[in-house]
Amino acid sequence: MAILLRRICYKYTKCIIASVLIAFFAQIIIAVSFFPSANDNLLKKNGYVARHEAEVSARKSSFELSDDEDLPSSNKQQNKPLSLLRVEELDFKPACDIYSREAISAIHRAKTQTCKQEIVNKTCLIQEGHFYPENLPNYCPHNRVTYGKYLGCYVDEKKLRLLSGFYGNYANTNSRTACLDICVQGGFPYAGVQYASECFCGESPPPATSKVSDDSCDMKCPASTAETCGGYFTMNVFETGLTSKC
Ligand SMILES: *[C@@H]1O[C@H](CO)[C@@H](O)[C@H](O)[C@H]1NC(C)=O
Repeated sequence: MAILLRRICYKYTKCIIASVLIAFFAQIIIAVSFFPSANDNLLKKNGYVARHEAEVSARKSSFELSDDEDLPSSNKQQNKPLSLLRVEELDFKPACDIYSREAISAIHRAKTQTCKQEIVNKTCLIQEGHFYPENLPNYCPHNRVTYGKYLGCYVDEKKLRLLSGFYGNYANTNSRTACLDICVQGGFPYAGVQYASECFCGESPPPATSKVSDDSCDMKCPASTAETCGGYFTMNVFETGLTSKC
C-alpha cells in the first residue's frame, strides 16, 4: 500500500508542483488587477511609479482646481462642511471656541464687528447651556396679581380639585418656588403645594369658602424645610403673576 502511494506521488510530483505554481501566479495576477491599492503598494514596493497613476493624479488636481473656480461662491461654501471661524476676521477675542456651522455662518454674514460680537456672545452662552434661564418668574404686578403672592391655606377635595390644571409629585424637589416656576412655565395663574411633595396649577382661584387657618397646612417642603408645602388635603396657594387665559 505504502509503495503504491509512493509510486503515485512520484509519478505526479511534477504535475502537482506545476499546478501549485500556476495557482500561485494566477492569484497574484487576480489580486493585482482587481485590487488597485494592492497594485499600487506592490508597484511602489518595487520602486515603480506608475506613469498612469501620475497622469491620473495630475488630471485630478487640475480638475479640482477648475471645479472650485467654476462654482458660484455660495455653492463653494456648502461644499466645505466645516468652514472654520478665523480669528483674523474678528477685531475682538471670542469668549469661547465656536463650532456650530449656523453660528459661524451668521458671524460671516454679520456686517459690523458689534453684531459679530453679539452673535459670538450668544453662541457661547448657548454652548455653555446658560442661554435660557432656569426659571421664569414674573415680578411685574399685573392686574394686581403678583408672582409668589400668598393667598392662604385651602382645603382641597379629592373629587373636585381646587387647582385642576396640572398635577406633579416631586418627592425630593418640591418647594413653593419650584411649584410656582412649574406653574409659570405652564402659563397658569395659580400654584398650590400639598402633602409636602405635590404641586398643583390652576386657572381659577380657590373659593374663599375653602380657606382655613395656616395651621392646617403643616407639612414641610422636601427641598425647603423652612416652609410648609400644604398638608393632608390642604394646600398653600399662590399667585404666579400670570392672568387667567379664561
Ligand atoms: C460680549 O461679551 C463681552 C465680554 O463679556 C463684552 O465685553 C461685550 O460688551 C459683549 N458684546 C456685545 C455686543 O454683547
